[in-house]
Amino acid sequence: MLAARTCRVVAAGAGASLATVLAVLTGVGPAAAAEEGHDDPLGYVVDLDALDDPAVVAEGRRLYQRGCVSCHGADGVGAPSGPPLEDAGAASAHFYLTSGRMPAAVPAGAQPQRKRPAYDSEEITALVAYVASLGDGPEIPRVHPDEADVAVGGELFRQDCAACHSATGGGGAQSYGRIAPSLMESTPVQVAEAMRIGPGQMPVFGPERFSDEEVDEIVRYVQFLQEVGDPGGFALGRIGPIPEGFVAIVIGLGATLLAAFWVGKRREQSHDVEEGSA
Ligand code: HEC
Ligand code: HEC
Repeated sequence: MLAARTCRVVAAGAGASLATVLAVLTGVGPAAAAEEGHDDPLGYVVDLDALDDPAVVAEGRRLYQRGCVSCHGADGVGAPSGPPLEDAGAASAHFYLTSGRMPAAVPAGAQPQRKRPAYDSEEITALVAYVASLGDGPEIPRVHPDEADVAVGGELFRQDCAACHSATGGGGAQSYGRIAPSLMESTPVQVAEAMRIGPGQMPVFGPERFSDEEVDEIVRYVQFLQEVGDPGGFALGRIGPIPEGFVAIVIGLGATLLAAFWVGKRREQSHDVEEGSA
């Protein structure tokens, strides 16, 4: 009796782990959808046409007062715990919000990490619109990698990016304990933005350095690196080593539970047989 109940509990547990594995494998979740929605392969995330809408800017200001003002100051003038945002522009706000770097989870001076975006696409649209309204920063770049020459992109990448991000785009350690991150999760728009804004220790590659066409070529090459760089088949939504470890644990645990279930079942059967013969 007890064995049967244990079996049901174990089976339910195994079922739940299986559901989790499926959810992770298929990348279900609002953040995954916002970051790399299937009808948004370039990663714009925001509604580009709404950025000048005063109502959207006002909503962005409201979100800013709640989530950003403590570090970046009123109207983005800057504060001890965050730089001024007056000339950050839509490009920088979009890069930092869609890559989950902002709101920062680390103190000023530490390197903000890529993580799941804290806001949905509507909220990111509003925040980007508000930050853009503060000054004269760069716009969100429009990218056209499909029309770009991947071979030229490869040459430019090896010349100007590989030293820090490695030839495979896998990333590398920098001085001062900072890291040039892996580019395996970067969306095409984020790659173009990183070049134009130069986040953290990365240099700015402005229009005098790379034309829009050359930016597209590099973006295309990074896409190529991502296509060849997915080890093991499943990309797991390109959200990095944490979900991979998570899946390993869940699959491992699921297998253990199934084994326990099977052993329990066998025990029960042999028990029944013994009882029957007695
Ligand atoms: C805990 C403090 C903190 C919070 C909260 C925070 N930021 Fe930041 N922000 C920082 C720091 C520190 C940096 C500089 C990061 C670096 O060193 O690379 C930064 C950088 C930025 C940049 C890049 C600035 C540039 O010069 O291009 C943008 C844009 C930005 N933050 C937007 C936001 C927005 C929007 C929010 C609210 C959703 C927010 N931040 C919340 C601390 C914070
Ligand atoms: C001097 C070293 C250096 C060079 C050269 C460099 N980067 Fe970076 N890059 C960095 C660092 C450091 C960061 C992390 C910035 C931060 O702390 O937020 C970064 C961040 C990025 C990101 C964001 C990654 C993500 O998705 O989180 C992209 C994309 C990127 N770089 C692309 C490029 C491209 C393309 C080139 C060549 C045109 C390039 N970088 C050249 C150092 C470098």
